[in-house]
Amino acid sequence: MNEQQLPGDLKNIKIPDVLPILSLYNAVVFPHMTFPMEVVGERAISLVDEAMGGDRLIGLVMSKKAFTDELPKPDDLYHVGTMIAILKMAKTGDNKAQLLMQGIGRFAIKEFIEGKTYLQATVEALEDTKAQGIEIEALMSNLTGLFDRIVKLSPFLPQEFGILAKSINDPGVLADMIASVINAEAEEKQKVLETRDVKNRLEVVTKIVNHQLEILELGNKIQSQVKTDMDKTQREYYLRQQLKAIREELGETEDDSKVEIQEYRKKVEEKGLSEEAKREADRELSRLERMHPSSAEYTVALTYLDWITSLPWQESTVDNLDIKKARKILDEDHYGLEKAKRRVIEYLAVRKLKPDTKGPILCFAGPPGTGKTSLGTSIARALGRKFVRMSLGGVRDEAEIRGHRRTYVGALPGRIIQGIRRSETNNPVFMLDEIDKLGMDFRGDPSSALLEVLDPEQNFSFSDHYLDVAFDLSHVMFITTANILETIPPALRDRLEVIELLGYTLDEKMKIAEKYLIPRQIEANGLTPKQINFTDAAKKQIISGYTREAGVRNLEREIANVCRGVASEIAKEEIKSASIKVKDLHKYIGPVRITSEGKARMSKPGVAVGLAWTPVGGEILYIEATAMKGNKGLMLTGQLGEIMKESAAAALSFIRTNADKLGIPKDFYDKTDIHIHIPAGAIQKDGPSAGVTILTALASLLTNRHIKKDLAMTGEITLRGVVLPVGGIKEKVLAAHRAGIKTIILPKWNAKDMEDIPENVRSDIEFHLVDEMLDVLKLALAKKESGSGIAKS
Ligand SMILES: Nc1ncnc2c1ncn2[C@@H]1O[C@H](COP(=O)(O)OP(=O)(O)O)[C@@H](O)[C@H]1O
Ligand SMILES: [Mg+2]
Repeated sequence: MNEQQLPGDLKNIKIPDVLPILSLYNAVVFPHMTFPMEVVGERAISLVDEAMGGDRLIGLVMSKKAFTDELPKPDDLYHVGTMIAILKMAKTGDNKAQLLMQGIGRFAIKEFIEGKTYLQATVEALEDTKAQGIEIEALMSNLTGLFDRIVKLSPFLPQEFGILAKSINDPGVLADMIASVINAEAEEKQKVLETRDVKNRLEVVTKIVNHQLEILELGNKIQSQVKTDMDKTQREYYLRQQLKAIREELGETEDDSKVEIQEYRKKVEEKGLSEEAKREADRELSRLERMHPSSAEYTVALTYLDWITSLPWQESTVDNLDIKKARKILDEDHYGLEKAKRRVIEYLAVRKLKPDTKGPILCFAGPPGTGKTSLGTSIARALGRKFVRMSLGGVRDEAEIRGHRRTYVGALPGRIIQGIRRSETNNPVFMLDEIDKLGMDFRGDPSSALLEVLDPEQNFSFSDHYLDVAFDLSHVMFITTANILETIPPALRDRLEVIELLGYTLDEKMKIAEKYLIPRQIEANGLTPKQINFTDAAKKQIISGYTREAGVRNLEREIANVCRGVASEIAKEEIKSASIKVKDLHKYIGPVRITSEGKARMSKPGVAVGLAWTPVGGEILYIEATAMKGNKGLMLTGQLGEIMKESAAAALSFIRTNADKLGIPKDFYDKTDIHIHIPAGAIQKDGPSAGVTILTALASLLTNRHIKKDLAMTGEITLRGVVLPVGGIKEKVLAAHRAGIKTIILPKWNAKDMEDIPENVRSDIEFHLVDEMLDVLKLALAKKESGSGIAKS
């Protein structure tokens, strides 16, 4: 690494006659701003190297085209740009460098000069015009007012920016500063840069700001700007650097920094840092004293001290070891979930007897909305600990867990340390939510960092790259959640004690709605229990007519919608109270969404109910077969995968081979096309487990025999009609139970999976275990009706 520092005073630098020109794609840089930039490529690096060897000045202009290997053509470049001085350079690899730059002043290109590997041009400085008077003042105050509103609405602009804008006296600088931080198109910003007349410039910026405000106020979040968390921290760093440069412009003194350093010194003494951490903090403090407060490194060191002194080195909460009380709290927050609650109480009991017990790392696994995340908060409440949650969904980079080294521009600690700081204690309940969604890519495997976090043998000295000193995580209680266990990296899964939350039956949902969701939503919407109640029939209708899910997330949402509707009617004094009946639901939450359309379909032969497995729980599937005049065609629709298509072909072949036995005319296929359709077409369906169902639907169609009511099935078939085992039995059975299925046909080989099915569900359903397709048909088909399926269609 190669670091160098720029000496001298930046304010008095004059723009020379000739500048090396570096082009930027889709970005505009303004005078007075400090910002980091990465420079890549042989040509750019040689330009930077040469500048570093000389006066460190570069002309930055925006390019209209994305970069290619060729030298940019003058026509592709804007001809007004900003001269910058390189404050600092760090080579980060072959032909790669991180720069910290300071914008100095505007210039216009007069003529390009040939002869170097990079671009060079003669330039002319563009000074701001003089601007004074009432009109300018009015423009400025209008602009700062608009900008203030933008700052308030926009999540990515630090609040200080509003205040800062008000304190800028120079109208040109004000326009530049606002243009540089708001979220406008690069072309618009370029226009601001090109506007040398200050009054004009204020007007151009006001127009952009107005437009931005309109967008923001329309609720159009500017999320697109921040593509990833890391981008955001980089951006924050960049903004802070600008803030500082402008502060300096305003003449903030060095004394402030002395006070600042003093304060940190005091904090370091008081916070009870580990010995190692204290040594590191002292080192940074003495470095700070030697630095100029406006240097970039000063901010970096200060940020570090801020982090290290705000971590809870010694702070912790005292556990509530009152088991009765803990149990009461757990019951207050959630219905059922017996296994999970019991496990937490057990842990408490053991802790009471043996205080230094290492906690288990629980993993709550199950479909969405079954209370996994909210159970975590409840456990924290029961134990009397703070709660932090970190979603692992989409975390691909090891650095998100463990942070970036401090040498990286805009570095921050990883999310574990961030969470600890947020909790302000060193023993929170720390939820690693959706551990099954953890990603992996070239930036390193986050799961190995997580392994270290979760390992009781290692986590007393967890090392975050940014902190660079060990932090003790051994008092933290980690809880993880997952929808499915299969995608959790095996080494990680080994560490977890899995507790399954499988989803709720209709009865359980009724109780959860009554005791938890409805009271909660009544309160959340500012109602009282006197003002609203739900009849049982209405609750049941919301559950089965408006939601189809293993958990209760949508149920809670619909209840919230009803409460909100009632609250607004009461507020408008249209009504005083409401008793919600089935017929009222339409008014508040629209028409019924899940009809018994499936049941209606079942009124004809040729429709069978199958069971499917999805990562969010089981699903029931209607499989429809029809026949029409044609010539031995088999058509399959409904987004079916290859394996499912093969199952359908196998089913048809089995029927053709066994037509006799099934009472189907031997030549039925000669003049027929068969169409199999599996609705809910948006969902991609695949796997062999629909084989049995497809075959049953076909047999029903061709024999013109109905399939029995409330019956569902799953199983793979062979060409000879043997029924093979399939996966996901438990989830499938639970889904069938929710859908009111009374009889289920399963492969005999799956008998062992029956044990996983909760007792109350098992007793509601009649199970048949089969290993022969002919047995399935015997069980599934009702007795023969007149006519044949083919003749009719
Ligand atoms: N057994 C239960 N008792 C009371 N409320 C529940 C229960 N299960 C889930 N909920 C509520 O349902 C909502 C969704 O739960 P959540 O924890 O987000 O589910 P998950 O994390 O499993 O997807 C939360 O408001 C939660 O409190
Ligand atoms: Mg969750």
